[in-house]
Amino acid sequence: MSAVDILSTSEIEVRDAHPDDVHAIAAIYAWHVLNGRASFEEVPPTIDDMRQRMRTIIDGGFPWLVALYRGVVVGYCYASLYRPRPAYRYTLEESIYVDASATGRGFGSALMEALIARCEEGHWRQLIAVVGDGHNNAGSLRLHKKHGFEVAGQLRSVGYKKGNWRDTLIMQRPLNDGDWTLPE
Ligand SMILES: CC(C)(COP(=O)(O)OP(=O)(O)OC[C@H]1O[C@@H](n2cnc3c(N)ncnc32)[C@H](O)[C@@H]1OP(=O)(O)O)[C@@H](O)C(=O)NCCC(=O)NCCS
Repeated sequence: MSAVDILSTSEIEVRDAHPDDVHAIAAIYAWHVLNGRASFEEVPPTIDDMRQRMRTIIDGGFPWLVALYRGVVVGYCYASLYRPRPAYRYTLEESIYVDASATGRGFGSALMEALIARCEEGHWRQLIAVVGDGHNNAGSLRLHKKHGFEVAGQLRSVGYKKGNWRDTLIMQRPLNDGDWTLPE
C-alpha cells in the first residue's frame, strides 16, 4: 500500500491555482488527453496554451483550483461560462482532472466540494458537467452524482477518438437557489 492510498481530508490541500502550477496541470491533462476517456482533445496543449487557458479563466473572474498532496499538485478543476451568449450568464461548466496515479483517494471530491463552494459565492445558478465517454466514465459519473449532479441528457456518438464513437453525458446541479428564484 503506498503512502497516498489512505488519506485524511487534512492531508489534502485545495487552493487557487498559481501561474507556477501550469507545468503540473499540463502534465496531468496531457496524460488524460493521450490515455483517458474524458477529454475529446487528441493532442495535449503546450505549456503556453495551458498558461493562456488558465489566464483567460482566472482573469475572467472564474475559479481555477488545484489539489495538493504534500505540496505536489495532483489534480485541478475550474469553471467558466457554459456558453458565451448573454442568456447563459448564470450557467457555468466545470472541468476536473486528477493525476492518473492518484485517483480514487479523495482528491476529486475535495476539489469538487471546493469548486461548488466557490461557484456559490458568485451569482451563478447552474453548474454543468459534460462527461466525456458518458456511461463508460465510471469515475466521473460517480464523482458528479456524489456531489449533487443529475444526468440531464446523453448525446450519442458526438465524438470520434481512437477508432471509437464517444458519447457525452450532460450532468447538472443547481447552485444556490437554482431556478427557484429569479436572479436580481
Ligand atoms: C473523475 C475524477 C476527477 C475523480 O477524481 P478522484 O480523485 O478519483 O475522485 P475521488 O477519489 O474523490 O472519488 C469520488 C467518488 O468516485 C468514486 N470513483 C473514483 N474513481 C472511480 C472509478 N474509476 N470507478 C468507479 N468509481 C470511482 C470513488 O469511489 C468515490 O465514490 P465514493 O465516495 O462513493 O466511494 C478522476 O477519476 C479523473 O481525473 N478522471 C479522468 C478525467 C475525468 O473524467 N474528468 C471529468 C471530466 S467531466
